[in-house]
Amino acid sequence: MKTNGNTILITGGSAGIGFELAKQFSQLGNKVLITGRNADKLKEAADKLENVIPISGDVTSSVSTDQLLAQIKEQHPELNMVINNAGYADVYQLDANVDAFSKASQEMETNYLSIVSLTEKLLPTLLKNENSTVVNVTSIVAYHPQKMLPTYTASKAALKAYTDVLRDTFEDKLNVFELIPPLVNTDFSKEIGGENGIPPKEVADELVLALEKDQWLVPVGMSKEFVTV
Ligand SMILES: NC(=O)c1ccc[n+]([C@@H]2O[C@H](COP(=O)([O-])OP(=O)(O)OC[C@H]3O[C@@H](n4cnc5c(N)ncnc54)[C@H](OP(=O)(O)O)[C@@H]3O)[C@@H](O)[C@H]2O)c1
Repeated sequence: MKTNGNTILITGGSAGIGFELAKQFSQLGNKVLITGRNADKLKEAADKLENVIPISGDVTSSVSTDQLLAQIKEQHPELNMVINNAGYADVYQLDANVDAFSKASQEMETNYLSIVSLTEKLLPTLLKNENSTVVNVTSIVAYHPQKMLPTYTASKAALKAYTDVLRDTFEDKLNVFELIPPLVNTDFSKEIGGENGIPPKEVADELVLALEKDQWLVPVGMSKEFVTV
């Protein structure tokens, strides 16, 4: 698919991988909408880039999502790409009394259910526009489970399965990509040795190349050891 001239929504675009994606896609000549919960941080991020529009909101809030959808319908009806990037993880190990249920609930809400909801609400817009594309950001842990991220691993495995079914369902009507980062050096990964991870730029570079080649599965760095393209 072409990597310029698109209108792209990136959830969680104020930091880390999402910010790097916003940077690269804006430089390539796309209009980019970014979301995030902290409105000041989001505006600061958008101000650093060209042609990037901040729309604050929480992906787990249906009120935020409906406001986002209304703004897209009114001001950006040509939207043809969404990158579901915002994510949440709890670092812990399964044991008695760790309250895995509440941790898993928040992870499933952010990493899986919010994407199911947003995708369904965006489908009418995506299906009527040309070159429409969904990119879901899973993780190496969906292919190589990590006991320090037990329920996060499961939430990303759920997103991976949903992404496969979405691709099969819409075949030639929707391009559906899965971006599979390894450990990346961002705020998100601080508790799990993120400083040893790859820079977010490498993730964005690989996604751009994969989009150009219509390569649906996009393992990055070490993820290539676990994912056959
Ligand atoms: N870093 C890694 O090692 C790694 C590895 C594999 C996969 N991933 C995945 O890559 C994605 C991005 O991670 P990252 O490392 O770039 O994280 P990050 O640096 O912490 O950035 C997260 C971004 O998402 C936003 N965000 C978080 N929760 C949100 C919510 N509920 N609603 C809206 N926006 C939200 C944050 O802004 P606010 O806080 O202001 O909302 C921020 O813009 C996630 O899906 C993560 O699971 C990361």
